[in-house]
Amino acid sequence: MGSLPFRLLSVTVVLGAAQLISGYSFNNCIEDPYSKGSFNCINRKEKKISAVINDLPPSAINLTISKNHLWHIPSKCFAHLPNLRHLRIDDNKLSIIEQSAFQNLHQLQCLNLSINNISELKPSLFADLHNLNFLLLTDNKLKKLPEGIFSTVLKLNTLIMRQNLLTNFSGIAKSVSHLTKLRKLDLCSNNLTSLSHSNVSLPKSLTTLYICRNNLFTLGCEHSFLRFIQLLDLSYNSRLPTTAFQGVDLRHINYLRLRSTSVKVVELLNISNVNAEYVDFSGTGLKNDTLLMELCKLLKKKVKWLKNMGLSSNWIENLANNTLNYCPKITGTLDLSHNQLKYTNCLNFLHGQTHIQNFSAEHNHLTSLPSCKTQNMVYLKNLEELSYRYNRILSVNSYAFYHTPNIKTLQLNINTIAFLHRKALKGLKRLKTLRLDNNLLTDLFNNTFEDNLNLQILNLRNNRISVIFNGTFLSLRNLTILDLGGNKITHFQPSGLDGLKSLSKFYLDGNNLRQIDTSLYRVFQDTLTVLDLQSNQIRFFTEDIISPFMNLSKLSDLKLDGQQPYGITLLPRNFFRGLYSLKFLYLTNNKISHLAPDTFDDLTGLQFLTLDKCCAGVTQLEPGVFKNLRNLNRLIVEDIGIQNFSKEVFGNLTQLSALQLNRNGMQTIEVDALESLPELHYLDIRNIPLSCTCKNSLLQNWTLNNPNVQVVYFYNLQCPHDAKHKFYNFDTQVCYIDLGEYLFFSTAVVIFLFTVTPLLYVKLYWKMKYGYYVFRSWFSEQWRRLRDEEENCKYDAFVSYNSSDEQWVMDQLLPNLEGNGSSFKLCLHHRDFELGRDIVDNIVSAVYGSRKTICVVSRNFLSSEWCSLEIQLASYRLFDEHRDVLLLVFLEPISERQLSSYHRMRMVMLKKTYLQWPGSDCTDPTQAQDLFWNQLRRAMRTGSRLVTEENEREGPEETEHFETSDENHYLLP
Ligand SMILES: *[C@@H]1O[C@H](CO)[C@@H](O)[C@H](O)[C@H]1NC(C)=O
Ligand SMILES: *[C@@H]1O[C@H](CO)[C@@H](O)[C@H](O)[C@H]1NC(C)=O
Ligand SMILES: *[C@@H]1O[C@H](CO)[C@@H](O)[C@H](O)[C@H]1NC(C)=O
Repeated sequence: MGSLPFRLLSVTVVLGAAQLISGYSFNNCIEDPYSKGSFNCINRKEKKISAVINDLPPSAINLTISKNHLWHIPSKCFAHLPNLRHLRIDDNKLSIIEQSAFQNLHQLQCLNLSINNISELKPSLFADLHNLNFLLLTDNKLKKLPEGIFSTVLKLNTLIMRQNLLTNFSGIAKSVSHLTKLRKLDLCSNNLTSLSHSNVSLPKSLTTLYICRNNLFTLGCEHSFLRFIQLLDLSYNSRLPTTAFQGVDLRHINYLRLRSTSVKVVELLNISNVNAEYVDFSGTGLKNDTLLMELCKLLKKKVKWLKNMGLSSNWIENLANNTLNYCPKITGTLDLSHNQLKYTNCLNFLHGQTHIQNFSAEHNHLTSLPSCKTQNMVYLKNLEELSYRYNRILSVNSYAFYHTPNIKTLQLNINTIAFLHRKALKGLKRLKTLRLDNNLLTDLFNNTFEDNLNLQILNLRNNRISVIFNGTFLSLRNLTILDLGGNKITHFQPSGLDGLKSLSKFYLDGNNLRQIDTSLYRVFQDTLTVLDLQSNQIRFFTEDIISPFMNLSKLSDLKLDGQQPYGITLLPRNFFRGLYSLKFLYLTNNKISHLAPDTFDDLTGLQFLTLDKCCAGVTQLEPGVFKNLRNLNRLIVEDIGIQNFSKEVFGNLTQLSALQLNRNGMQTIEVDALESLPELHYLDIRNIPLSCTCKNSLLQNWTLNNPNVQVVYFYNLQCPHDAKHKFYNFDTQVCYIDLGEYLFFSTAVVIFLFTVTPLLYVKLYWKMKYGYYVFRSWFSEQWRRLRDEEENCKYDAFVSYNSSDEQWVMDQLLPNLEGNGSSFKLCLHHRDFELGRDIVDNIVSAVYGSRKTICVVSRNFLSSEWCSLEIQLASYRLFDEHRDVLLLVFLEPISERQLSSYHRMRMVMLKKTYLQWPGSDCTDPTQAQDLFWNQLRRAMRTGSRLVTEENEREGPEETEHFETSDENHYLLP
């Protein structure tokens, strides 16, 4: 599928809008910024897979959808992701996977469906997965496999179906028998009872078979069935008897695990062709010397040399000195872990086994390691690795390893060693790795490591060391890694670190250091690459100290985060001087009050900087603070109270590709600041109160149209204080109105000038003329005279009407106002206009010579231009002279829509009430008409001063005749 159709599809589905958006963000996934094509959609609590993956691009290669609540994979769900190679949908609640769920995944190599509720697989579920080589179905509810389930996955290499409810081995064997690439099959923790297989055989390629923790009570397979198996794990099938192996060809086995079965190993070796040296005797009940000796004698009959001997988990409490002498010579590892040994006896029981290279007695009950510089000690000069981890060793006495002078790796970690004799490690000249971590050591003496000239790695983490005395490490000139983390170190004596000429990684985190002692680092200033000072008590009170790191020219990784309990507080001005090689700097959780703009100036090689919660309260990052960080690739400035994201601060980071700005306080982000980061590909702006206002309209637009910068979960960002609305689609139309208006007016002016003017001249000739007359009258004497005469007008009302309404005027209006008891004097144009005078002048003098102007409004009236002029004049008096002269009489109902083109009329109507002639179609026309005339007469009698809001309060009686109502435009009688 091409990319354009996909975009259209996904955008339509996901956003439910037909906008074409090329933004780079996903609803529930994050593309790994350092591994293009890898998408992680973890812990999203989604129930529907479409919501998770619909917006992923077809270029996706690795996809991890772990820890969601998916229960269903519908058909063709991944059809738009044809390039997927690795797909993980583990730790969900999957129970239903449709037949064609994985259709189109022709490239898929690895599929992980572990930790779900799958109880059934559809027969052609994997039909398209020709390239699948790794399939994980651990921890589901599979009871059986449908026939032919693996018929097309011919490249399958590893099939893991641990922790299911499989009972039928023969069905499994049948479904994998044609898989000529299958190498590993893991069926541990199922409910298999035998390996019976009804005439099918396993593929020759299958060499690793795990059937541990089942319910096997026999093997029940043909002689040659396991012929090609090399690693066979049958452990924890407690009912599996020795006889099960009778007649089963195990000639290619190179590791057989039988722990916690009912197999008697001695018998096994007698009846089976399994190569004795490859049987792991761990957990086979060889708990005393009698049983061990018996085994050894048998072994010795079969082989001369034994590479490894596993005897762990056998409840062995003690080994007599001669027991293992009966065994063949062991050249590799002897494992006595998980037994009940209380004493090592200086490994005297190995006196016939001096070829051993690796001895392990982890998880036993050892409480001390005695001195082994004795008369008849066994000299194990081939031993290179020795492990006593996970015991209860409290003390290690002098010369404890005198009998094993050539060990290279010594593991004494995870014990309770409180006492390590100053001569305990005496003689270990070849020691390279020493693990003493997780003990109770308080003191190291200046000769503790005296002989360990070749030590490279020394781990003393999690002890109780408080002081490093002078000369402690003096001999350790080859040490490259020193881990002193998690101790209680408060200080080093002046030459406490002397001798560490090759030190490269120095871990001092979690101690009680209060300051950084520059002079100490002198020894390894040319070799140190990693310095971890996390979680100490380092704090500064003055900015003026010399940089403690000045000469650490190779330092590339510096951790200073989380100083307890106050934080670094004040970061000295020159603190990071000279750290030109630094690549990683951690300063989180430090309550720093101020970051000077030149703080990071020397860190020109820095690639990673985290200032997460580094600083106290609201920190303003000052302009230029990152100015020299031209190699910075990733910047984490989460939760440091940034109020303002500006170009001045961030603009210099020309290599920055990932920026994490979560949990800060800015309400806006300037787009030009983002645009000044040319390499930016990943931006995390979650939990920032970005306002959904015009200030951010550019940001919204930039994000939605930027194919290069992934904005993490952008479509989920909410508007602050309004969880219902999303940042990505808040309405920005309104923001562009200013610009639109500007464009509109400038265009309109141009059009007006070049096109509309002539039209206006023709069409609105009368309007211009009207304006001209008003203008002329304004200045004319007559005008002034009319104004002066206003109080004693010639007429009570000038009646403006259209000739088509003349009938009504003559028959109804005139008799009711001039006669009939009321004696108003009306001015009618056909009767009272001066002959020979300009019609406009006539109208002007009629309007101004009358106290009122009655407009008889009908549809014809509205379309008559002359009447319009009259209304304009009267309304001019209403609005501009504030004289209330206008009375509107509607002869017929006129809809709002018809009125809408008469702008000035509408304005009048909003200001005034008007009378509606009841006509003759209402129930009682005579009474309604009487009311109408009464109201009109009353209106005629009112003064013409307009009631403004101030004098309304003074003279309310003037208004009682005219109840103005916004809702009732027509005052119906
Ligand atoms: C995909 O995952 C595999 C296995 O974890 C890894 O080796 C490979 O580099 C990844 N590919 C991409 C493009 O991230
Ligand atoms: C294993 O299978 C047996 C019958 O073969 C059955 O009784 C038992 O409940 C099954 N165990 C589990 C955990 O399903
Ligand atoms: C060793 O264990 C076996 C089996 O439990 C027992 O029969 C035998 O007596 C034991 N031998 C010794 C010396 O304790």
